[in-house]
Amino acid sequence: MDDAFDDLNPAPRLLMGPGPINADPRVLRAMSAQLLGQFDPQFRAYMKHVSELYRGVFQTTNRWTLLIDGTARSAIEAALASLIEEGDRVLVPIFGRFGHLKVEIAQRYGAEVIALEKEWGQVFRSEELEAALKKHRPKLVAISHGDTSTTMAQPLAELGRLCRAHDALLYVDATATLGGMNLPTDAWQLDVVSAGLQKCLGGPSGSAPLTLNERAEKRILRRRHTEAGLRTPDAIEGEGPVIRTNYFDLAMIMDYWSDKALNHHTEATTMLYAARECARILLKEGLERAFARHARASRALTAGLKAMGLALFGDQQHKMANVTGVYIPAGVDGDKVRRALLNDFNIEIGTSFGPLHGRIWRIGTMGYNARSDAVLQTLAALDTVLAHEKFTLPRGAGVDAALAVYREG
Ligand SMILES: Cc1ncc(COP(=O)(O)O)c(C=O)c1O
Repeated sequence: MDDAFDDLNPAPRLLMGPGPINADPRVLRAMSAQLLGQFDPQFRAYMKHVSELYRGVFQTTNRWTLLIDGTARSAIEAALASLIEEGDRVLVPIFGRFGHLKVEIAQRYGAEVIALEKEWGQVFRSEELEAALKKHRPKLVAISHGDTSTTMAQPLAELGRLCRAHDALLYVDATATLGGMNLPTDAWQLDVVSAGLQKCLGGPSGSAPLTLNERAEKRILRRRHTEAGLRTPDAIEGEGPVIRTNYFDLAMIMDYWSDKALNHHTEATTMLYAARECARILLKEGLERAFARHARASRALTAGLKAMGLALFGDQQHKMANVTGVYIPAGVDGDKVRRALLNDFNIEIGTSFGPLHGRIWRIGTMGYNARSDAVLQTLAALDTVLAHEKFTLPRGAGVDAALAVYREG
């Protein structure tokens, strides 16, 4: 191990887990740019670029499209804290770890939570969600798009319309899918959507893009309470209860991102540069092409794993395009395989949580790493490591099957 006064020199890992993944080198370069003051006109212009670029990424015309300074869960917390009032009924469909996270955050803000649970590896049918909306009449529905813990993606094309029909707001956690799978915010009538940079957007964690529409804005601004030290005589205060967090108070964060530029926190300038570059790179590639690149990496990886004789986890019809769950074969020590991949090949793949712990590995093919060379290297290394673990497999078949997918045209 290096000691504390040695140069920082991280190993050149290939990060093929469920996130973080390797950042695009262009994002790292953007992060080395010099700082600016947050009220510098040039910096305010960069903030405007961020809003404009993320409208493209979220496929929305929402005015309020901004960044929360923190990891992806900071935006989940900002959304839930700012939308939930004490005693509100909130419906949380759970199909993995991150559903439980939303339950826990909603409860901390005083919600009466109705949790619907699916077995890990499955997703909800639209009729099940509609029946729950009818029965429980929640004010808010909070759901993940893709849950990396199970590798499943919940179909959401219908849910926005159903929520409107039952007068509920809809919050979607798209941390794991934004930029890798289609999620048209406006077309699907999603009221609030948030994400992080460290998955399909190809950046580091630490900045969380969020977008919200006028329905959500109305609910949030009725709770606007400006900090006493910043309040001006013309400040418009809401009549609703104060949002019970200062750092994640969306009403204050919206004032800070607006032309009023009302001070809130000191901007994480370097993370804003990163977020801007992630979105710029993605939109330059084009959303459709990026989705197709992720889908193809997933097809190649899964073809390779199956050709090696491994079994895939969960309902394959609803698997995320960017993370794959694969059963650890009987008699193979899952952690030993991960250690060998890391130590001998500099490749990281993911372990798993809760009921899946010790049963599956999770392999990500997302953002900058949704590339043929990354998929092929991972399969080749896994082939060798498994053979050393005395797992009988047709050597080389995994790489060949993946390569065949890439050569399809
Ligand atoms: C669906 C989902 N939500 C939230 C998170 C939490 O993100 P963070 O660790 O950046 O706070 C993750 C991370 O894997 C995730 O996959």
